[in-house]
Amino acid sequence: MALTSIALTPRIGSEVRLDKAALLAGDHAADIRELLVSRGALVFRGLHLNDEELRTVARSLGDLRIGSAKRGADGKVLTEGDRGVLKVSLDPKVNPDYAKFLFGNLLWHMDGTYEPVPPFATLFTPARLSREGGDTMFASTYAAFEDLPQAEQDDLATLRVVHTMQAALFPAKRDCTAEEFAVWSSYPQRSHPLVWQHKSGRRSLVLSTSGAWVEEMHPAESHDLLQRLMLHATQDRYTYRHKWTPGDLAIWDNTGTMHRAMPFEAGSTREFHRCTLNGEEPITAPDLASARAAATVA
Ligand SMILES: [Fe+2]
Repeated sequence: MALTSIALTPRIGSEVRLDKAALLAGDHAADIRELLVSRGALVFRGLHLNDEELRTVARSLGDLRIGSAKRGADGKVLTEGDRGVLKVSLDPKVNPDYAKFLFGNLLWHMDGTYEPVPPFATLFTPARLSREGGDTMFASTYAAFEDLPQAEQDDLATLRVVHTMQAALFPAKRDCTAEEFAVWSSYPQRSHPLVWQHKSGRRSLVLSTSGAWVEEMHPAESHDLLQRLMLHATQDRYTYRHKWTPGDLAIWDNTGTMHRAMPFEAGSTREFHRCTLNGEEPITAPDLASARAAATVA
């Protein structure tokens, strides 16, 4: 069966129509990867994948993550759920290790900005939906960058941003305890270029709520710049909002998109199963000197 896709918005998101058996067989894995990177987020309807099927699809598309970059209360590295399938739930009974981080999912973010090589992609399927709300939104940081004026693109390409766990989580839990804040602050912070020169040749903004400050910039200017870029990148024209139905599968390219969950009722049993694909390239800044030299020669 041929793979067909329909754009859900002009700049991000496509619905993919593909027979479940063909998806599990990996027949179209190369096409799906290409579409994933070009469209940022893909959705499939009516698949109803169980955990083993989710792992199979994940392995066909990349390197399924088994160990997590996060540590538990005892300092041990957390595993990525059951052999690579993590239950995403705010209920500590479902996921005692992760529930204390996942409230940050309500804010726009990239996954793994504390890692040297952030994850390539995420596969996400609902096990139980919330009664209200709970949509997932995606924003294309490729499209947001590509629409900026050339001079601004060049300026931004010289900057680096420090990402921290407290920047990611504090805005979502302003009534945190001093102990919680101390735990978040104990996580390593990571500096990344603000603009990612991908091996594919495309460039994207490396934006996330975890972006705490721009290096070597006055804090007020840094704050204003990061706020302005976040507002720019999350305009309607760069976003797709997915309303879930049972059996859906969403896959997003974590290297060129941000994502967030929309609010849902308190005490919800909302639960998703997630597979993460390990990153394949570090975040590398554009080499502006080489680009200018090449332009001059041309
Ligand atoms: Fe996330």
